[in-house]
Amino acid sequence: MQIIKGKNYEDISQKAAQFILKRIHENNRLTLGLATGGTPRRTYEYLIKDYENNHTSYQTVSSFNLDEYIGLAPSDPNSYHYYMYKQLFSKIDIPKDQIFLPNGLATDLANECLSYERKIKEYGGIDLQLLGIGENGHIGFNEPGTPFNQRTHVVSLTESTIEANARFFDSIDEVPRKAITVGIATILKSKEILLLVTGKSKQAALKRLIESNEVSEDFPASALRKHENVTIIADEEALSKL
Ligand code: GLP
Repeated sequence: MQIIKGKNYEDISQKAAQFILKRIHENNRLTLGLATGGTPRRTYEYLIKDYENNHTSYQTVSSFNLDEYIGLAPSDPNSYHYYMYKQLFSKIDIPKDQIFLPNGLATDLANECLSYERKIKEYGGIDLQLLGIGENGHIGFNEPGTPFNQRTHVVSLTESTIEANARFFDSIDEVPRKAITVGIATILKSKEILLLVTGKSKQAALKRLIESNEVSEDFPASALRKHENVTIIADEEALSKL
């Protein structure tokens, strides 16, 4: 794992955007794996800024998101569909039919998981997977205990994840209890992984990821130790307990 240190949130976001842009410039048919949550927000703003100033084209880029809440429509401001269109997709020239997110309203969820996996394969797999990390080490919505060999599946969110994500909702009761997430096996199949980590709340998870040798399903992010091309961009605050 390569670690790139940034001064603060602003700095890691800028570095992450530069990292992604470099890959797009190297391969204009790039298949991106994208994440939601608070962490990548500023990175997406930097990508938009670059699009406005330097006109980097996304016409031939495709994108698969990691996860989506079950039961939220794309028009729901708390859905990850809504987030992605608002934070990024509506502001760059990526064609709609090259954008994929799991459908949280699917009536046949098992089939939705299978067809999402099939779609990723059809696109040749993920070239660059952007990740955040949960305080309990979750990646995507793969909570502690998720088998590392799991592909896209339905998950029940843990109390700690529900509490951590409640800040985006009017009340904690509105946070969906279930989600669809790509699995750890899907994430590990990506050719390259970029993990972004910021702030105090992630100190413990980052320390556990970097300093211990454990590869354990109790700590989902430890699966990344099995991948040979992982870059972590973290800020000083997140790294300060190492
Ligand atoms: C959420 C998302 C993840 C995200 C993580 C961290 O629950 N499902 O994809 O990476 O938790 O979120 P944040 O960046 O807001 O701390």
